[in-house]
Amino acid sequence: FFAVTQAVERSYIMIKPDGVQRGLVGEIITRFERKGFSLKGLKLFQAPKELAEEHYSELKERPFYPELVKYIVSGPVVCMVWEGPGVIASARKLIGATNPLLAEPGTIRGDFGIQSGRNVIHGSDSPDNGEREIALWFKEGELVEWTRNRTHMLA
Ligand code: TYD
Ligand code: MG
Repeated sequence: FFAVTQAVERSYIMIKPDGVQRGLVGEIITRFERKGFSLKGLKLFQAPKELAEEHYSELKERPFYPELVKYIVSGPVVCMVWEGPGVIASARKLIGATNPLLAEPGTIRGDFGIQSGRNVIHGSDSPDNGEREIALWFKEGELVEWTRNRTHMLA
């Protein structure tokens, strides 16, 4: 039994093509692992255009949308599901601000990026969007049910 005050949530985290090309996959996974979240799904994946469009459908009307979709399909991405108490907001803190120039040092974007258009990583912005994105990017059976032993992490 753990006295967890935050709801256990799942976030869809994706290392974008620039992050994969730059060899940041291990570094990024390490940051989520050592924070204490549980990895529930993981795959290297070449996204089809329709999937990238659907993922960012809320941004359809924005001027950067076509370039954004082109960028996401420009090479393989690493798709992940991370689970844990408060993971949605916490992952956004680990990731940092959308514009890497404004992201704090110590965050992933703050440490590794320069431009919003090449900002290394995606993280869901709400529990509902997290579930929506997980359903988009993962098929039934690709996620693994297991429990990370948090005896030494949570009171
Ligand atoms: P958004 O969901 O606003 O940011 P975040 O990834 O931090 O949740 O936008 C999605 C992506 O669109 C963002 O990661 C990078 C790209 N983008 C731009 O290229 N230019 C922009 O001005 C914005 C707002 C986003
Ligand atoms: Mg977003």
